Amino acid sequence: MNIPFFNYPAHFNAHEEAFVAIFRDIGRRGAFIMQQDLRSFEARIAEYCGVKHALGVGNATDGLEMLLKAGGIEPGDEVIFCAHTMVATAGAIHALGAVPVPCETGPDHMMDVDSARAAITGKTRAIMPTQLNGRVCDMDAIQALAAEHDLLIVEDSAQGLGAKFKGRSAGSFGVGGCISFYPAKNLGCLGDGGMVLTNDSEIYHHILCQRDHGRDPETGDVVIWGRNSRLDNIQAGILDYLFDDYDGIISRRRHIAALYDEYLQGVGELVRPPAPGADELHFDVFQNYEIEAERRDELKSFLAQRGIGTLMQWGGKAVHEFPNLGITASLPFTERTMRRSLMLPLNMTITDEQVGIVSQSVKEFYAND
Ligand SMILES: Cc1ncc(COP(=O)(O)O)c(C=O)c1O
Repeated sequence: MNIPFFNYPAHFNAHEEAFVAIFRDIGRRGAFIMQQDLRSFEARIAEYCGVKHALGVGNATDGLEMLLKAGGIEPGDEVIFCAHTMVATAGAIHALGAVPVPCETGPDHMMDVDSARAAITGKTRAIMPTQLNGRVCDMDAIQALAAEHDLLIVEDSAQGLGAKFKGRSAGSFGVGGCISFYPAKNLGCLGDGGMVLTNDSEIYHHILCQRDHGRDPETGDVVIWGRNSRLDNIQAGILDYLFDDYDGIISRRRHIAALYDEYLQGVGELVRPPAPGADELHFDVFQNYEIEAERRDELKSFLAQRGIGTLMQWGGKAVHEFPNLGITASLPFTERTMRRSLMLPLNMTITDEQVGIVSQSVKEFYAND
């Protein structure tokens, strides 16, 4: 049996002919950087997410850094983030000379707003919720906290394309958010790629310049210090094509999550993520299916022996647990969560039958106690 966690060649093989046609078309036009394919893809994503502006960038991490910079974050400013996130969230803060301040994750693995509140000091300028696993945080509570303390909200929506809270899309709250198109993402390109979403025209214009060496596209003049972080036109063409079926991708992922939820019910040693439709506030797109499990490491080895691939997010450590980063914090709930979390395979190539086999194997592991 072989049920990989993610099958990169299959991602390519499933669309090979279409991809080659896109390479050929864009290559023959010589349309490699900031061309129509990018502009039309940006317009589609903006409409889909219900935001005024979407800007293709090199990757989500660059997008986060550019958003923080456009929002006026300066060296020494403190920015609160949830420690159960990719190091990229904190890295974007650190890159500006600002101070990443971690807070606890909650029982649904989203930012714990009480813990975020407790982390606020006189130097706090922004809060960065991560829309983890394709789910949006309680943005009512985060927006209320931000309003109370005059904080910018910058969303790490790398995993959240199409996820909603109260009908509003990830990336549409606060000053803006960033989507990642890393190959394993729900919408994944053939390399690196990202998108900044914002409703703020000044922020949009700032990042439009930042991503292209600080040049104002209207005049060509360099108006600010910038960088090179553009979404390649070929990647935009590929993403635009894959996006045609994005609703299908989301329903398939929600279907797989619903199957896991059904099959794993009653296994007392597990905590399952909220099922699709579990409440009316959230619309989850299941970038990941992250369970909590007793004896997680043994379960992982047991499944590996059966050829079933699983993954511990971030290698099983919260951001503040990497000692070389110099973030000192004690976040016991997050630390406990990281020791127990495991992602089961959920991707576009796994079959319903394989979801059944994975679930059955999990049950057998605990039944053998
Ligand atoms: C939560 C989160 N933040 C940030 C990133 C970084 O995205 P990118 O690789 O596009 O820079 C990722 C990507 O895995 C992520 O999952």
